[in-house]
Amino acid sequence: MPLRTIITGTGSCLPDRVLTNFDLEKMVDTTNQWIVERTGISERRIGADGEATSDIGLKAARAAMEAAGVGPEDIDLIVFATITPDQPMPATACLLQAKLGARRAAAFDISAACSGFIYGLSIADGMIRSGSARRVLLVGAEMLSRVTDWQDRSTCVLFGDGAGAVVLEGTDDTASGVEYVRIHADGTLWDMLHIPENFIRMKGNETFKVAVRTLEALVIDTLRENNLQASDITFLLPHQANERIIRATAERLGLPMERVIMNLEKVGNTSGASIPIALDEAVRSGRIKRGDRILLEAFGAGLTWGAALIKW
Ligand code: UT7
Repeated sequence: MPLRTIITGTGSCLPDRVLTNFDLEKMVDTTNQWIVERTGISERRIGADGEATSDIGLKAARAAMEAAGVGPEDIDLIVFATITPDQPMPATACLLQAKLGARRAAAFDISAACSGFIYGLSIADGMIRSGSARRVLLVGAEMLSRVTDWQDRSTCVLFGDGAGAVVLEGTDDTASGVEYVRIHADGTLWDMLHIPENFIRMKGNETFKVAVRTLEALVIDTLRENNLQASDITFLLPHQANERIIRATAERLGLPMERVIMNLEKVGNTSGASIPIALDEAVRSGRIKRGDRILLEAFGAGLTWGAALIKW
């Protein structure tokens, strides 16, 4: 059985339509200045009419598979992290499997909101290292615009649509790969961030405070459990919810912002898609290089949270 799980390809897809803060100024009582100062977000992408979560997931998956040099028949598990599935049933992973022609693959969705990618990474790593799957396609994709109340200024300025994907495989080379992954939940706080009927409702400020506290403790625990110092981390790659939350986590670690991967200014909060989109951009631009150690972390509805360490 393989000793480690490595990411052999990354991909992402952002819908074409850009919705800027200035567009939002015309829709709700807000200003570009408020949004930038309170969140760090300037614009986000919105899916086209008829464009489904599986469609953007497919584009991200194809890019990741091309980068990994694998074909549809090489995939034996598809894990799809989303809270905006095409339909409640079947799993969006199954729709993606059909679109890809990945006939050998088992397929299921996971619902862990903004922590979906870390949850999926935990599952993929466990399946690969136990010998249950050789090659896993992990996708995080969301059409949050479909569950956003465009009259609620406290939430509609935050979210965006997008998809990211990675291909994971086993290796016996312990010099690289997934070094650590941990996931957590506290369902007693389910009503901080949920979709009671059609739209996202969030106790924004309370969620903000719990997020900062939880993530600060999470990254410090992650270092301690792995006997690492902040200087051993090349990049912090956080879930892209709010620049102020990200800065607080980086400050707690003592990491300068040059070592933090952040793209929320252009994409907003894409929930389960945010980490794989930011990862793909950083890999393709050459910012992440072989040998770098990346600390991933996420916090979101559930509540759920988790962290991972990857040696590239
Ligand atoms: O993705 C996973 C989890 N999600 C998060 O981690 C998000 C967590 N929360 C946040 O990012 C922040 O709480 C928000 C960005 C949502 C809000 O920022 P805040 O600093 O917590 O503001 P607040 O909710 O305390 O609101 C401050 C003021 C309020 O007005 P009053 O009561 O002081 O008069 C709001 O009504 O800002 C007002 N406000 C706005 N003003 C202009 C709320 N939304 C807006 C808006 N434009 N879009």
